[in-house]
Amino acid sequence: MTDHMPDRPFISVEAIARRFPGARGAPPQVVFDNLHFTIRRGEFVCLIGHSGCGKTTILNILAGLERADSGAIVLGGQEISGPSLDRAVIFQSHALLPWMTAKGNIAFAARARWPNRARAETAAHAQKYLDLVGLAGAEHKKPAHLSGGMKQRVGIARALAVEPKMLLMDEPFSALDALTRGVLQDEVRRLCAATQQTVFMITHDVDEAILLADRIMLMTNGPHAKLAEIVVNTLPRERTRHDIHRHPHYYRIRNHIVDFLIERSRRFAEETAGGGYDPRRPPETRPGIGGPGGDGAPPDIARRSAAASIAIV
Ligand SMILES: Nc1ncnc2c1ncn2[C@@H]1O[C@H](COP(=O)(O)OP(=O)(O)OP(=O)(O)O)[C@@H](O)[C@H]1O
Ligand SMILES: [Mg+2]
Repeated sequence: MTDHMPDRPFISVEAIARRFPGARGAPPQVVFDNLHFTIRRGEFVCLIGHSGCGKTTILNILAGLERADSGAIVLGGQEISGPSLDRAVIFQSHALLPWMTAKGNIAFAARARWPNRARAETAAHAQKYLDLVGLAGAEHKKPAHLSGGMKQRVGIARALAVEPKMLLMDEPFSALDALTRGVLQDEVRRLCAATQQTVFMITHDVDEAILLADRIMLMTNGPHAKLAEIVVNTLPRERTRHDIHRHPHYYRIRNHIVDFLIERSRRFAEETAGGGYDPRRPPETRPGIGGPGGDGAPPDIARRSAAASIAIV
């Protein structure tokens, strides 16, 4: 097997845990422990869960900005031990260098990646990524003179320009108006598909996850948050923002995720207290494929109906 085989995990998250000290002698707060998941090369994975469950903490550990208290993350066969240009992060706020132009910000990142490149080559590289995110003409503007959407585009161009092995995004569009958000979602989808970029993205927006992700990881409320389930997106890969809601799988997937966020994210611990949940292999579901042969129902319902059909037999 080689790294290029699609089914071999490119990133393997193995039993990671994160605790923070309790305030004034209280016991430590366990954000999550024994968390496992994998991401394949070229895959786009979204993580959804309520505020405070530990999503950014996971992203920071993947980025190498924070260390897990135990467990490991293996990327392309090597354990992650700190930040690297192999993993580019797009934060909720763009985090641009305010004294540099749009193009300067991108060229700065590209120079860090390829320090021996000629100046003209770096400039052409930066221009290529500015053009890709639709910012031709704004290259000489500084962040203070760019709109929120334009700044976020520079952030996206800068992250892609270092050609990272993995792109990490923490609610990258949440501060934008709906129109700009839609346009940037389309651009990110197009760029990631064209470059077969491996992506881990946090979002609170169910529709955004269904549009962008190949798989959507559902995280329960903390403390001791768990990856309850991984939803496989069964919509066609060539979907667009304008047509996904017409697909028969769309509302099944959407309702399933919304139901999780409203109900099951709270009840998961009691639901699974009797066993049946293995954190080393969070169950994959395909709610888009309802009816016979599909697994659209939440696991408890699926279990109950499985038990019912056994009883009938
Ligand atoms: N440095 C820290 N010290 C103490 N507790 C922390 C620290 N960083 C995060 N936490 C706690 O860890 C938990 C998870 O935080 P995290 O930022 O990962 O949540 P999140 O899922 O990204 O939330 P949101 O959706 O609001 O961004 C929270 O309860 C938070 O209070
Ligand atoms: Mg967060």
